[in-house]
Amino acid sequence: MNKSDIKDKKLAPAGNLRIEWAGSQMKVLSLLKERFQKEKPLKGITLGACLHVTAETANLMIALKAGGANLALCASNPLSTQDDVAASLAFDYDIPTFSIRGEDKKTYYEHLNTVLDFHPQITMDDGADLVTLLHTERKNQLPGVIGSSEETTTGIIRLRAMLKDGTLKIPVMAVNDSNTKHMFDNRYGTGQSTIDGIIRATNVLLAGKKFVVCGYGWCGRGLATRARGMGAQVIVTEVDPLKALEAIMDGFEVMPKGAAVKVADIICTATGNKAVLSVADLENAKDGIIVSNTGHFNVEFDYDGLVKIAKRRRTLRNNLEELILTNGKKIFVLGEGRLINLASAEGHPPDVMDMSFANQALAAEYLVQNQNHLAVGVYTLPKELDDMIAALKLESLGVKIDKLTPEQKKYLSSWNEGT
Ligand SMILES: NC(=O)c1ccc[n+]([C@@H]2O[C@H](COP(=O)([O-])OP(=O)(O)OC[C@H]3O[C@@H](n4cnc5c(N)ncnc54)[C@H](O)[C@@H]3O)[C@@H](O)[C@H]2O)c1
Repeated sequence: MNKSDIKDKKLAPAGNLRIEWAGSQMKVLSLLKERFQKEKPLKGITLGACLHVTAETANLMIALKAGGANLALCASNPLSTQDDVAASLAFDYDIPTFSIRGEDKKTYYEHLNTVLDFHPQITMDDGADLVTLLHTERKNQLPGVIGSSEETTTGIIRLRAMLKDGTLKIPVMAVNDSNTKHMFDNRYGTGQSTIDGIIRATNVLLAGKKFVVCGYGWCGRGLATRARGMGAQVIVTEVDPLKALEAIMDGFEVMPKGAAVKVADIICTATGNKAVLSVADLENAKDGIIVSNTGHFNVEFDYDGLVKIAKRRRTLRNNLEELILTNGKKIFVLGEGRLINLASAEGHPPDVMDMSFANQALAAEYLVQNQNHLAVGVYTLPKELDDMIAALKLESLGVKIDKLTPEQKKYLSSWNEGT
């Protein structure tokens, strides 16, 4: 048995079933796994991953192992681990796994450090915590690293900032920037699973509620659309005029946050930014507002500040806290401000993680294949790979599409046929 740190070995059988079910919905990743099994593109490579430890991630780990990689896995958020899945990865699949749901910050970073103790040549991140550690406290390991890959918008923002100020020392594949990732995972995955998380935490009826979405990017768009689908009256807050305009034309009301909090029954941040809702904003909110976040870090609204000023605090259900402020208002906070779809539900459905993790698997292969000529930088996966994933996904759905005729191809690349 490897030296994993997981909650309870006895949870492994339940985790194994959950992994099996998720895998059955991940057809593109399964095809890649079959190819990896035969070709072993990651043979001898040590890969350290810091991802949400879910059944979908387990299937990615299994595919990478089939490709010949030696793995170590830790969580990319203290509240997102599925303990049964972690147990199964450690015991049934012999993948060293270091994650326990609800671990404190110290343990979280100990687990990241343990993964780096394996001296990975490739790292895989969701939020760039592992890469940050590698470029700060564990700098001495950088010469042995081929590169990294990054799953989410917030991670890419951090990596581009590292590149800009000269801190980044390795090539990184921006998996989030593949079309088959952000257009589907961020939009449809976050849209559905965030609603799922809010409902599991509260069991509120969305129909007729005023539901405020802060940020109308890929995640915000998905969330706004799905909340409307459940009958909520959706209001959007934005800082980007273009996105605000898009929200208006998509049929949503747009207003500043100060006005939005006063009418919101439920508010959810999806910005990838910090301090979107301050304590002062929430002190002015409608009495009984439900406050949640689905952005990567728990900094989008000031949870700690609210706890500090609250005169009473009770946990009513899993992931549902009641805070009573000195002005007498009640605020209901979900999942301590951590991304609610993973804190309170199961994260994105496997069907959509299929494409995200096909990108991750191909990114690892790409880094190995191109290790001798990739300079330091943040790269998007080649368009052919993105298109291939889309084509395989369509095939797995049994959907056929038309092909351009030679005449159409010529027409689309010429200028001389006009009116
Ligand atoms: N919950 C999940 O499972 C999940 C999945 C994917 C991405 N994410 C995370 O969700 C966040 C958003 O990702 P995205 O892909 O939608 O990013 P995005 O860049 O497409 O959209 C973010 C939007 O927020 C807006 N914004 C920024 N600051 C704001 C503010 N102060 N007030 C209002 N709007 C503001 C931006 O203008 C932008 O339109 C990131 O942190 C990302 O890592 C979470």
